[in-house]
Amino acid sequence: MDYKIAVLPGDGIGPEVTNESVKVLNAIGDRFGHTFSYEHGAVGGNAIDDYGNALPDSTLRTAKAADAVLFGAVGGPKWDDPRAKTRPEDGLLAIRQGLDLFANLRPVQVVPQLIDASTLKPSVLEGVDFVVVRELTGGLYYGKPKKRWSNSRGRRGVDTMYYSEEFISRVLRVGFELARMRRKKLTSVDKANVLESSRLWREIAMEMGQEYPDVELEHVLVDTAAMQLVRQPSRFDVMVAENTFGDILTDEAAVLSGSMGMLPSASLAGVPEAGGRAFGLYEPIHGTAPDIAGQGIANPIASILSTAMLLRYSLGLDEAAALVEDAVSRALADGYRSGDIASPGDSIVGTTQMGDIIVSLLG
Ligand code: IPM
Ligand code: MN
Repeated sequence: MDYKIAVLPGDGIGPEVTNESVKVLNAIGDRFGHTFSYEHGAVGGNAIDDYGNALPDSTLRTAKAADAVLFGAVGGPKWDDPRAKTRPEDGLLAIRQGLDLFANLRPVQVVPQLIDASTLKPSVLEGVDFVVVRELTGGLYYGKPKKRWSNSRGRRGVDTMYYSEEFISRVLRVGFELARMRRKKLTSVDKANVLESSRLWREIAMEMGQEYPDVELEHVLVDTAAMQLVRQPSRFDVMVAENTFGDILTDEAAVLSGSMGMLPSASLAGVPEAGGRAFGLYEPIHGTAPDIAGQGIANPIASILSTAMLLRYSLGLDEAAALVEDAVSRALADGYRSGDIASPGDSIVGTTQMGDIIVSLLG
C-alpha cells in the first residue's frame, strides 16, 4: 500500500525526534512492502517566523490530504512573550480544532528496566498500564468567552469550561470502546461536586454506561484522581477526562514512566477500532526541550512509539505497530539509554543512534 504522511516537525527537538520516526516508517515500509510518502509542513515558532502564522493554511491543507500526521513539538523561549499576538502553541491548538482531533490517547506503561528512572517507589509502579483519553477540542481550552480586558477597577481575564452533549458523548464513547478492548474498567474524571459542565459529563457517562454493561464504570473527582495516580496507579485501566484535567493528569502520569521522553500520544478524529482506521495526529507528549535542542541527545522513543500508534490507529497495521513497540522494548532491554533515562554507569546513546538501534531490531 501507499500511504501519505504529513510530517510537521515543529521547533526545538521536534525535527530531531521526528527524523527518527521517519526512519522507522521507512524500515517498516521495506519490511512489509508499503511505501510511505512524506509531505512536510511548517508549524509553531518557525512558522510564525516564516509565515507570520503558527499554522499556515498550506500546512493545514497538507495535513488534511494525508492519511495521518506525524507531529514533533512546538514552542520555545524565543516566542514566549506573554504579550505576543500569536504563540507557537496556537498552531497546535488550531490544528487540533482544524482536524477535529477530539480524542487524545495517552498510554502510560512502566517499562520494568526503567523502574529506577522514576522518582516513585518500585512497589507503586508495579503493574502500571493505563490509557488517559483526554478530550482535546473543547472544555476550558476552547470555550467562549475567552479574553482579557480592563475596566476602571483593573484588569480581568476569563476562560470558559463549556461543553455540548455531542462533544462529551463522542469522547466518552472512545473511553468505553477502549476499555472494552482492554481490562474493561473506565474511570470518568470530573469535578461534579463543583462544576456544571462536569455534572453534565457525569450524567452522560452514566447514561452511556447502560450500553456497556461489560465495562465497569467509576466516577472519580479530578483532585482525587491526581492523588490516586501517585498513590495506586495500577488501579487504572482507561481514564477519560476534560481537556485541561487530562493535560494536567498526563504530565503527572509521565513521572510513572520515568521520563517525558518515553510517552507517546495519538489525537484521533474518530473512535478507534481493532484493525480500523481513524484519522489522527501523532506526537510525543514532551515539548521542544530548548535546553538540549540541536545537540543530538534527545530521546526519540516517545516519537517512535507515537509512530507505532499511527500504524495501529490510522493505517490499521497492527502487526507493524507491535513490531515497533517490541523493538523499543528490546533496545531498552539491551541496555541502550538516552540521557533522560540513564542511571549512573549506563552508557548513553544519542538521538540518531537510538533510532538506528531500534531500526536494526525491527528484524
Ligand atoms: C500538551 C501540551 C499542549 C497542551 C500545549 C503545548 C498547548 O501541554 O499537548 O499536553 O496544553 O495541550
Ligand atoms: Mn500538556
